[in-house]
Amino acid sequence: MATYSLGSSDPEIARLDAQAEFLRAPTRVLLEASGIGPGMRVLDLGTGLGHVAAAVAELVGPHGEVVGLDVDPRMLEVARTRTEHLPQVRFVEGDVARWREDRSFDAVVGRLILFHLPDPVGVLRHHQQALRPGGRVVVLDYDIGGLRSEPGDPLTDRMAALILAAFRAAGADPTIGSRLEPLLAEAGVEDVEGFAIARYLASDDPVGPAMLSGVVRSLAPVMVAHGLATEAELGLDTLATRAAASLRSTGSVLVPPTLAGAWGRAGLSRR
Ligand SMILES: C[S@@+](CC[C@H](N)C(=O)[O-])C[C@H]1O[C@@H](n2cnc3c(N)ncnc32)[C@H](O)[C@@H]1O
Repeated sequence: MATYSLGSSDPEIARLDAQAEFLRAPTRVLLEASGIGPGMRVLDLGTGLGHVAAAVAELVGPHGEVVGLDVDPRMLEVARTRTEHLPQVRFVEGDVARWREDRSFDAVVGRLILFHLPDPVGVLRHHQQALRPGGRVVVLDYDIGGLRSEPGDPLTDRMAALILAAFRAAGADPTIGSRLEPLLAEAGVEDVEGFAIARYLASDDPVGPAMLSGVVRSLAPVMVAHGLATEAELGLDTLATRAAASLRSTGSVLVPPTLAGAWGRAGLSRR
């Protein structure tokens, strides 16, 4: 199993919460389009703090069930406390590459997890075999290649390039969102379709600089260890303020990573 490059420290938990709030509406749109609906039994891969598990719980309703799977016990502890009001949700600790339960699922979903896996197609094949025939496979992931400023702010664009390089240095695949449909097809999923959702943040919107500096902070140890940047260049304590000023002075819109979704029918399920 590859090491998860961002960890589960308190600042990382706060960053995931902010990111989840930012992704709440696009995630809901993509999950609804994917065919997740009332009464389904759904597995959420790499559930983290349980944000997707909670969104799926709303769609499956009280007669459905959601199992959130993650390798990090600290994340799961937080997820459990936050979903106490949702009796249809439970969490289990395990590696998505190996974990399997005897009872079949109606759907498997995963947001921002394929990104971190050394063998995403192998994991998709593994979980399709635990779906009922015709069950849904649904993946949501980032295309960080979309991250940039328009018409152009040098500081933001330098940080965007560093973020891409650091994820790659850590063994992650930061543009996997652009290839979700072919990956599902390669894994044997049938009738694959999907779409992506982009956002555009005004030059005076504080959300963009906060997100940018948050992810740079989480990746800073990787950047420094791989010689991509020095701590002095990153200047973490002032990065959000400098990025905000730089975006304003260049009148640039910040284009955050695109959230892509793809889904289809299990082609390898137990028959
Ligand atoms: C970026 S977070 C995404 C969390 C959540 N899916 C979301 O969208 O908010 C990635 C999560 O995947 C988990 N993870 C990474 N590799 C894993 C593996 N091999 N098995 C299980 N969980 C894994 C990490 O612990 C982390 O909680």
